[in-house]
Amino acid sequence: NVMILFGPPGAGKGTQGPKIEGMLNIPQLSTGDMLRAAVKAQTEVGKRAQAAMNSGALVTDEIVIGIISDRIKEDDCKFGFILDGFPRTLVQAKALDKMLASNGESVTKVVELNVPDSVLEERICGRWIHKASGASYHVKFKPPKTMKVGPDGKPDPETMIDDATGEKLEQRRDDTATALVKRLKEYHGSTVPILKHYEPKGITETVNANQAMDGVWGEILGALKGTK
Ligand code: AP5
Ligand code: ZN
Repeated sequence: NVMILFGPPGAGKGTQGPKIEGMLNIPQLSTGDMLRAAVKAQTEVGKRAQAAMNSGALVTDEIVIGIISDRIKEDDCKFGFILDGFPRTLVQAKALDKMLASNGESVTKVVELNVPDSVLEERICGRWIHKASGASYHVKFKPPKTMKVGPDGKPDPETMIDDATGEKLEQRRDDTATALVKRLKEYHGSTVPILKHYEPKGITETVNANQAMDGVWGEILGALKGTK
């Protein structure tokens, strides 16, 4: 059971992924979360990835393929996994096929979260994340319980706290309007074309992700029918 959660920045991959994880009981692997952890820890990979990530460019195929091929060998991946943010180029898609084929496996489902670019700036610029767990919030669409808005209409950063742990939330360095333009350019230029790689296999499902989070989840459930 190898599922790819596909979609542009802000589509809801990180929002819906944990729910699928809970339902199918297989881990969600986000290359973005793994890279951010590497940057925070200032590992060799983190240092190499940092500048590209902050600007909204893609990290090299070599780095992310290395991260994923190590991660899927771990024990909790033996019944499958959900990929969030990988593959993002044709080179990565082919490398994934190869890794899986060596165990007689293949990608079983690609769920594309379809959403127009025009709504993504508001989603991205209003996002706050809890770095340790990867949980994401939004000032308008999913505020943390503690959020208070100041006289300037902006949320008071001191009140942006993770509901589950009480720890502080942060904004991502690449969640700016400028970096988003670059991220969308990469998405349409390098990532969308790989759907053509999966379409002939008849495993792609498209979900309307331009609706409230619960509605998106309902459609994902429909798309996953028959997947246990
Ligand atoms: P990555 O972390 O993968 O970022 P991304 O693809 O740009 O996706 P996001 O995390 O921004 O979006 P999401 O779909 O998870 O949105 P979320 O659910 O949080 O990658 C970051 C960087 O790492 C890349 O730019 C690159 O440099 C590098 N990288 C990673 N993988 C790589 C790879 N394979 N190859 C090369 N480089 C790689 O939602 C967004 C916001 O909207 C949240 O605030 C949420 O609350 C809100 N929201 C969600 N759904 C809804 C809804 N239905 N209605 C209203 N609001 C919603
Ligand atoms: Zn994400």
